[in-house]
Parts: sequence; structure tokens; C-alpha cells
Amino acid sequence: MRAIWLKQFGDPSVLVPGAAPDPVPGAGEVLVAVEYANTTFVETRFRATGAGPFRAELPMVPGNGVGGTVTALGEGAPAGLLGRRVVASLSGRGGYAELAVAAASAVHPVPDGLALDEAVALLADGRTAVLQLRAARPAAGERVLVEAAAGGVGTLLVQLAVAAGARVVAAAGGERKLALARSLGAQEAVDYREPGWADRVGPVDVVFDGVGGEIGRAAFGLLRPGGRMDSFGLAAGEWAAIPAEAAAGRGVELVAGERTPEALRSATAHALAEGAAGRLRPVIGQRFALAEAAAAHTAIESRATVGKTLLEVRR
Ligand SMILES: NC(=O)c1ccc[n+]([C@@H]2O[C@H](COP(=O)([O-])OP(=O)(O)OC[C@H]3O[C@@H](n4cnc5c(N)ncnc54)[C@H](OP(=O)(O)O)[C@@H]3O)[C@@H](O)[C@H]2O)c1
Repeated sequence: MRAIWLKQFGDPSVLVPGAAPDPVPGAGEVLVAVEYANTTFVETRFRATGAGPFRAELPMVPGNGVGGTVTALGEGAPAGLLGRRVVASLSGRGGYAELAVAAASAVHPVPDGLALDEAVALLADGRTAVLQLRAARPAAGERVLVEAAAGGVGTLLVQLAVAAGARVVAAAGGERKLALARSLGAQEAVDYREPGWADRVGPVDVVFDGVGGEIGRAAFGLLRPGGRMDSFGLAAGEWAAIPAEAAAGRGVELVAGERTPEALRSATAHALAEGAAGRLRPVIGQRFALAEAAAAHTAIESRATVGKTLLEVRR
């Protein structure tokens, strides 16, 4: 099969197209004929240094999420999955390929009414966004700041918070990204590349911090007593790292998305169902051929992307 190899960590040029043996599903696993492979900011960090949530064992075919059709079952895998349109999470390896093996427990049938590319776009980002929303619990009328609001997770968080009745302040870099966030329902938008941006935002009740660093810390400074700070990313290169005492001293709660397998599965299913119902719209901003995985990573790293970036595996 065709696949993308990662043989050393480094800049995007280390993602090299090549041939790989067809994988075979083991017990409890299924084989997926892949149409779309997801790419995420986290995957670009892993490719660069090997750091992050995935097992760093080279050489490997990277890729953490796919969508396609189940074409074979390993022993004990549910027979009902055969021939189904599914999305699947892969523990960080094997996704940038024509065929992928997934644990049956990590497979979600794609609900009717949801296109396969949209389901792949919702797989990781939708799960992450739903988990953060559940942790920070924005209420109707509360003012909610979403950082990287035009990104994969950010575009979904904006929609989920608006649907919860919150007043959303979208923070992002550049007018194109701010306009996208407004089009998704954000009532206010601010460019955090401009000095003094936080002063222009004013007090908020919830911060969704997917950027970290100075931006995350400035956002923390805006929280009212009773507010919630949810740091789930470090796109800036470091976590916001708010000390617990600093939060307690301000009457602010530090919250985090739940990470149990049940919570991850339920959040994914919820995001897919909301997508199928038309209440959550994934923004697929960029599409690349499988062989162009390096270009996809370059685009994500250079902050040039909006929404989700997918690899179209069949072209
Ligand atoms: N996708 C997931 O499932 C998942 C899971 C766990 C954690 N996260 C975390 O959530 C955050 C968002 O992830 P995502 O996949 O949705 O990515 P993304 O938001 O689509 O891309 C990252 C964005 O971060 C912003 N950014 C701010 N400072 C940056 C810097 N110094 N370098 C590069 N980008 C910078 C950029 O938007 P602006 O140009 O608007 O600043 C950039 O587009 C990341 O921190 C990621 O680690 C994601």
C-alpha cells in the first residue's frame, strides 16, 4: 500500500511517501480502507521532536485518525462493522496510509447524514472540544474567550459555546481568522497579535486556552471570580502553567477535560451526532493529497491554516 513514512524526527521534509506492507487486523481489530486521514497540530509537534501523547518508535507510519470503510475483521471483532463507513482513532500510528488497523473499540460508525470527510474532521477536534466544554461548563449569558478560535478545535468550541447561550469572544491571529470566527457565531473578535489585546477584551467567565504561553497567561488575567480556566494546548510552545495558588487567590477554577476511555468515546459520539444533526459544522479549510503530508504539516505549523486540514488518501 501507499503510506507516509517517518524515519527520523525533524522538519516536515521527514514525512516521505513510500510503500508499506498491508497491515493485518489482529484479535479485536478491524481493517479500514482509508479515504481521509486527519492531521492535527499535536501531530506536527510529534513529527518534529517525538514529544507528545504518542509512542515514539521509528521508523513508523504516523497518523492518529482516519475515515473509510471496514474491509476485514480480526478475530472477535463485531461482525456488524464489516462494510460500515467509520472513523477510527489509532493511538498515533498508521493513519497516513491507504489501509489502517484500528481497535474495534476505537471505531465509530459514521451517522447517516454526515459526510465521511466531515466525520474525520470532527473525530479528534470534536472530541477535544466537547471534553473542554463539559469541563468548563459555560452557562447562558456568560462571556467566554476562545483562543485560536479559527483553528480545528477553536472553530468547534466557538459553536458549542454559542449553542450553550454564552457570549463568545474569539481570539485569533489576523482578520481572515477573526471573520471566520464571527461567521460561526462569535459576537466579538480580537486579534491577539496586537499589543494590548487583553485590555480590549475585558472581564470573562471562561477561558478556553489552546495556545498557552503569554497569551494563555494574559487570558487568565481576564477571569472574574467564579471563572474557569481550561488550558488544553500549547501551540505557543509552552503551557500557560497557571499555579494553583494563583487561581485559588483569584477565586478561579482550573479545569481539564476528562481523559477516561468512556469520556473520550462519549465525547466523540456526541460530536458526530451533533454534526449529523447539523448543529456542529466542521470547517475543512485545507485538503492535501496523501503524498503531500509534508505540505500539510508545513501549512499547520506556519499558522496558515483555518479549521481542519485533511489528507485525501485516494488521490
Ligand atoms: N486537535 C485535538 O484533538 C487536540 C487535542 C489535545 C490538545 N490540542 C491542542 O489544542 C490546540 C489547538 O489544536 P488544533 O489541532 O485545533 O490546532 P489549530 O488551532 O488548528 O492550529 C494551531 C493554532 O494555534 C495558534 N497559535 C498561536 N500561537 C502559535 C504559535 N506560536 N505557533 C503556531 N500556532 C500558534 C494559531 O492560530 P492563530 O494564528 O489564530 O494564533 C494556529 O493556527 C493545540 O495547542 C493542541 O495542542 C488539540
